[in-house]
Amino acid sequence: MAFLAVILPLVITVVGGFFVLLEVETYNDAVERLEMKLDRTLASNSVMLARAVWERNEALIASQAVPALIDPDLIGIFITDRAGRTLAEFGARETPLGKSITGEAPIRYDAGADLQEAGRLELVMTDAGIRASARSRTLVLIAFAILLSVAIVFAAQAAFDLVIGRPLKELQKAIDSTRLGAPREEVQWSGADEVARVIEAFNRMQRRHTAYENALDEARIDLEQRVEERTVELKRARDEARAANRAKSAFLANMSHELRTPLNAIIGFAEVLKNQKFGPLGDERYSSYAEIVRTSGTHLLDLINDLLDLSRAEAGGLIPADSTLAVDAQIRRAIDMSRTEIDASGLTVRVAVDADVPPLRADARLILQLLSNLITNAVKFTRSDGTITIGAAVDDRRSVSLFVADTGIGIPEDQIDKVLEPFTQLDTRLHREHRGAGLGLPLCRAIAQAHGGQILIESTFGEGTRVTVILPPWRALPPADDTPPTEA
Ligand SMILES: Nc1ncnc2c1ncn2[C@@H]1O[C@H](COP(=O)(O)OP(=O)(O)OP(=O)(O)O)[C@@H](O)[C@H]1O
Ligand SMILES: [Mg+2]
Repeated sequence: MAFLAVILPLVITVVGGFFVLLEVETYNDAVERLEMKLDRTLASNSVMLARAVWERNEALIASQAVPALIDPDLIGIFITDRAGRTLAEFGARETPLGKSITGEAPIRYDAGADLQEAGRLELVMTDAGIRASARSRTLVLIAFAILLSVAIVFAAQAAFDLVIGRPLKELQKAIDSTRLGAPREEVQWSGADEVARVIEAFNRMQRRHTAYENALDEARIDLEQRVEERTVELKRARDEARAANRAKSAFLANMSHELRTPLNAIIGFAEVLKNQKFGPLGDERYSSYAEIVRTSGTHLLDLINDLLDLSRAEAGGLIPADSTLAVDAQIRRAIDMSRTEIDASGLTVRVAVDADVPPLRADARLILQLLSNLITNAVKFTRSDGTITIGAAVDDRRSVSLFVADTGIGIPEDQIDKVLEPFTQLDTRLHREHRGAGLGLPLCRAIAQAHGGQILIESTFGEGTRVTVILPPWRALPPADDTPPTEA
């Protein structure tokens, strides 16, 4: 349709223009012929009328001039004498049907000696005849032009369809058939024109795309295969790691049991020896050695317990028991466990438990272990003139926090995160004086997390440290609950 909209006005303009030019040319030719006819008529009539005009014989003039008016192109005959006076007038100078063409010639009479001017002849012709035949011819031409235009347009449309329309349709079919994963179609078309070259370029593009897609498909399949292989490998590695971890936990559990049994015997008998239960040991040194055996054994037992709990926590097996415990009593119990070290250190120990701190639903043994570890650290890393404060507080959300604060050597700010990693000890001169296994704080964190809580260490190097364990609100029992605390 767009093609017709362009071609139709163009064809009509060209054909119409051609016929208009032809018509103008034909009209000009006809007018030229009319002028020549006017000249000839003037020449013959001026000779014919010469005697009648010389003699001024009006009847003769009329009889000779009027028959000329039979010619439909001639509309007026005007004759004047030598002096320019009108001798005769036939017809008119103007006609409403067309344009007038006027010609004039002298009338000369041969009066004997030579030719004498007798008067002038003026003839008026009209182009009405030319116009009339032009009009009828124009109608025929318009009909012909319309027919010709329609024929040209249809011929052009047919040619367009043949040369461009069909290959374009084929091209469109091939483009429409493009689907993901389907082979790319080529267009079957031969020729040497521009359309054929475009189609050949399109076919080349289709072949290239097919090659790319095939390569892409292969790469995808290869990738999927590799991902699958890697997943299998990873699963195997994960299973092996889990199995190894389980084996490690089982080993630790068994070993710690095996270690604890003889250790308990060693500690127990060292105590019996030290207390000289079955009679005096004799030398004073035996009882001091027995005391060393007991404290070393206790320390070893603590270490084994920490190690066991930490490995349980790492394997996700540290599940706190649900007992009810009074915070104040638990703190005092933890202090008592370190009584010997505290007394030996000469430190001031304060307990600061807020009055509104509720009883907790927590694992009494683990909380005791946690507090004891924190107190041991505070005692270890604080000089004898220092103070240790062990306390508890509750906030608006009923989240209970337990804390141990000291005025000891502190922890450099950039190393605070490090001390929560297992087997880590700080390497400053003051810290090096006290060696440990580096299990205390990691275990405290594991215990806090097992209770759904978290641990927060605030410290200023050289001034002191405050370690806070924040337990979630659901660990706090309701204030109205006045059931007596049970402890595991
Ligand atoms: N209150 C504290 N003041 C200063 N430094 C501390 C304090 N508590 C812990 N640290 C530093 O953090 C390190 C790790 O503490 P953690 O309790 O984990 O191990 P440890 O006390 O060395 O050994 P373990 O507790 O197993 O006997 C300590 O070695 C010490 O360098
Ligand atoms: Mg410690």
